[in-house]
Amino acid sequence: MTDAALIDGKARAAELRARVGAAVADLEERHGTVPGLAVVQLGDDPASSVYVNSKNRLAAECGIRSLGFHGSGDTGEAELLAEIDRLNGDDDVDGILVQLPLPDHIDAGRVLERIDPVKDVDGFHPVNVGLLVTGGEAPVPCTPLGCLLMLREQLGDMSGKTAVIVGRSNIVGKPMAALLTREHCTVTVAHSRTRDLPAVCRGADILVAAVGRPEMIRGDWIGPGATVIDVGINRIAAPERGPDRTRLVGDVAFDEARTVAGAITPVPGGVGPMTIACLLRNTLEAACRRRGRSMPEL
Ligand code: GUN
Repeated sequence: MTDAALIDGKARAAELRARVGAAVADLEERHGTVPGLAVVQLGDDPASSVYVNSKNRLAAECGIRSLGFHGSGDTGEAELLAEIDRLNGDDDVDGILVQLPLPDHIDAGRVLERIDPVKDVDGFHPVNVGLLVTGGEAPVPCTPLGCLLMLREQLGDMSGKTAVIVGRSNIVGKPMAALLTREHCTVTVAHSRTRDLPAVCRGADILVAAVGRPEMIRGDWIGPGATVIDVGINRIAAPERGPDRTRLVGDVAFDEARTVAGAITPVPGGVGPMTIACLLRNTLEAACRRRGRSMPEL
């Protein structure tokens, strides 16, 4: 029994951010402008605040200007839409990201549709979703893009491979399916109503877990040698570390899976850092497109 190779998302994300930073510096030197990213957050959900702070800090490290908007949790929908309109019209803003989830009184779909598709660095606007599915040029949602970049580096050509994605969310599962279809994989999107999910998972060369249930996918659900991408970030109680202590786990039972898989992403340090690096990459791409520059190969 051999241990799976670890796919080091943290290291790969640092490399990608360094390449984004170099391209941003080049854009500034040649054209005298830097990309601007507006992260919009309503309320103070602790997990969202951690993500937003990381996004702003890492954007600054890459030379990208942060132009965020942080409203209170009872900001009205009309006020939020007006803020989006303002950011759409602000020439210094290349990318707009509205941190999800939004408070219940706001229609997230209406807000995402209001973002100018050219500035939609999350790739959630219906126009960009359509372009992704039909094979057009469009920003690709950050988490699936991060997963794809790690898979490409690990596997090279994925043509003909069997890919199983567990989870059908708009943020991860559906765009991941479109991306892997584009890579010529045979793709199955499994979900809570899939019959015999363990058997479906066992047939995968590439298994992407994006369900948000801690350690749901067990070692014996994984085919020998499979490449496993764990998108889950779940905080669970860790009494072994002391009272009130917690730890992060993925959707895959890591210790079991690593004895069967060929390669696997850890949690933390796998998909998470790649998501933010891809956001910065998408912001650079939006800035290049808006200035009529070609996007460098990263
Ligand atoms: N909340 C959880 N994941 C994401 C994401 O990828 N983008 C945004 N905007 N919000 C999120």
